[in-house]
Amino acid sequence: MSEVEAGPATARWQAELSGWAVPPEIAAGAPEPPWGFPVAQFAARAAAAVGRRTPSVERALAALPAGGSVLDVGCGAGAGTVPLLDRVRQATGVDRDPAMLAAYAEQVGARAGVRVAMLAGDWPGDADAAPVADVVVCHHLAYNVPDLAGLARALSAHARYRVVLELTGRHPMTALRPVWRALHGLDRPTGPSADDAVAVLAEAGIQPERTDWPAEGIGGFAEVDEAVHFVRRRLCLPASRDEEIRRLLADQLVHRGGMYSMGERMHCTLTWPGAAGS
Ligand SMILES: C[S@@+](CC[C@H](N)C(=O)[O-])C[C@H]1O[C@@H](n2cnc3c(N)ncnc32)[C@H](O)[C@@H]1O
Repeated sequence: MSEVEAGPATARWQAELSGWAVPPEIAAGAPEPPWGFPVAQFAARAAAAVGRRTPSVERALAALPAGGSVLDVGCGAGAGTVPLLDRVRQATGVDRDPAMLAAYAEQVGARAGVRVAMLAGDWPGDADAAPVADVVVCHHLAYNVPDLAGLARALSAHARYRVVLELTGRHPMTALRPVWRALHGLDRPTGPSADDAVAVLAEAGIQPERTDWPAEGIGGFAEVDEAVHFVRRRLCLPASRDEEIRRLLADQLVHRGGMYSMGERMHCTLTWPGAAGS
């Protein structure tokens, strides 16, 4: 942990996240790395975000001056940045995956009059390399980061006016618990949750404003095959198991707003003031 001693909420957060580790005997048989994110899926997600008005977007727009700057941490292909572009002249995306940064440049750079910068790195460890921005957005990164308090403090330090952090109500992989049980006979964790994230932020001295909202039709998979491939990868299985996966997902996949999704679709927007000053 950085700066301060980890408290009980942070210890719980880290224990729950480490419960998601793939057992070594299962990982050993993985045909492809289990944890990567599919770039094409996130590019489609960013393209679909043009003109979207979610609570996260509204909160970010309310703090952005016209012609302002945004820093998007764990940017993927830019779904957090794209809906803000009417008010932005400088957009910086940070991601550990260079392929995602290329997709970010493509999605965000398509908008005339917006300067785009990309930084490859891991937050919070590489945060010092990033510029300060009017608004810092961080969507769907939290459950990847054991040092959530460190991440939150680094977000604050880079925001002039506001931080907007979006996450699902529960760890997104909880939707795959029945599939893990059926195909590996393994019970997977039930958390952590957005409540746990808020408790960690409190330990970091951050009291966010919170909005929970249903996210039907946002995110998910354009095709059932995409969902099958995603699950196959997460569960370290070969393509020969696709039909079994497809049968198991049949009960779980819901088609809403043109996308297939699984499990709980509540999202949570947490916002707090930036600490970078103006
Ligand atoms: C679930 S995706 C979310 C992407 C995007 N924010 C969105 O909402 O569509 C998480 C992204 O964070 C990146 N990532 C994961 N851990 C990271 C870390 N510690 N620092 C920087 N990027 C990270 C991944 O490469 C991936 O692109």
